[in-house]
Amino acid sequence: MPEPLQAPKGTRDVLPPESDRWQSLVARFATACGAAGYGLIQSPVFEDAAVFHRVGESTDVVRKEMYVFEDRAGRKLALRPEGTAGVVRAYVQHRPPTPWKVWYAAPNFRYEAPQAGRYRQHHQLGIEVLGTDDPDLDVEVISIASDLYRGIGLTKYTLLLNSLGDDECRPAYNQSLTDFLLPRRDDLCDEHKERAAENPMRVLDCKKKACRDATREAPRITDHLCEACKAHFERVQEGLSALEIDFVIEPRLARGLDYYTRTTFEFQHHEIEASQSAIGGGGRYDKLAAELGGSPTPGIGFGSGIERILLAADAEGVFATPEARVDVFVIDVVGGAHARDITAELRRAGIKADRAFDGRSMKSQMKQADKTGARLAIIVGEDEAAAGEVTIRDLSSSEQRRVSRTDLLEELRP
Ligand code: HAM
Repeated sequence: MPEPLQAPKGTRDVLPPESDRWQSLVARFATACGAAGYGLIQSPVFEDAAVFHRVGESTDVVRKEMYVFEDRAGRKLALRPEGTAGVVRAYVQHRPPTPWKVWYAAPNFRYEAPQAGRYRQHHQLGIEVLGTDDPDLDVEVISIASDLYRGIGLTKYTLLLNSLGDDECRPAYNQSLTDFLLPRRDDLCDEHKERAAENPMRVLDCKKKACRDATREAPRITDHLCEACKAHFERVQEGLSALEIDFVIEPRLARGLDYYTRTTFEFQHHEIEASQSAIGGGGRYDKLAAELGGSPTPGIGFGSGIERILLAADAEGVFATPEARVDVFVIDVVGGAHARDITAELRRAGIKADRAFDGRSMKSQMKQADKTGARLAIIVGEDEAAAGEVTIRDLSSSEQRRVSRTDLLEELRP
């Protein structure tokens, strides 16, 4: 016998019943996005590698973690490590009318060291909007994430908020941060000793103690915003407060991707391990469309890891797996034809129904019925079959009654 094969390292099979919960999370998100005017985007899982190189040359996600490969015709492609770049590429390619509001639920691929909450294939729920830099849109985007978390019962998280400024104010801030960091370079963590100058704000976001200690007195971006960025940031804060969405301003928040301008945010859960505690994050990327060859178009969005949301839900004991897969279980101990016909009839009438196969015993079929969480069993034994009837049994109270087979549907309707 050949060795059984395993799923690749860092990937996971999501099986029922966990997948029931997964599906219901995606369905909730789809409904919320639909209710706010967002349409679904399905973009390719792989893109021209240049799409990502253009947006994240100095980030680990693109430099170290991307799955890059050549296809048979020698094209250099990459499995998408994140959702935004492909969506903006699609926007530039199709030039839809703005504001263009889209949502997705899709896999992403990063060659990371796998651990609980960190996978090589993970899945994000996300939205992206292109075409306006109105700060009220930032509030809308953040509130869609926040309402999703609240809606499934999460409470133990913090929304961190920052503004990274724009071309007007960020260069001067970066210069003053670099001036602060250079004389302290030897105190930084090993990685940032080398790379502090490349993206000085990432040193502030570094979780290592050396970098934390060395940057205690570092200048803060929020003290260096130009008038326009400041007004934008204030309006976002005002909007979040109006919608009663709590936040904490965190001037260290730089995020792991290069394209952000102005508003950035991250939702950090308190009960999952620090390096995986981000259940979602996002921000503005007002220059990205132009960097991908389109006309300058502001944009904003967020992405939230489905696996992380479910981990957080487990940690808080909320959003449990739905208990019942079907409403009705049909038990047929006279050959199976009744089960075949009744399940088909119920399903066509919109009632969730299942049955046993292989001519099992009454006892074994009852056990299976219990496992599905069904509320009712429809039983067809010798007596019922002979009388043209069925027994309807309530599986929690064990009460039962016989009804005519032809009246079954009527009897089941609420
Ligand atoms: P990100 O912060 O890299 O941002 O990822 C978004 C979320 O995906 C994280 O907060 C986390 O919940 C989840 N995630 C990331 N990597 C992994 C992993 N290896 N395993 C499990 N979950 C993971 C982005 O990807 C941006 N595209 C978000 C965005 C959208 N910004 C603007 N629009």
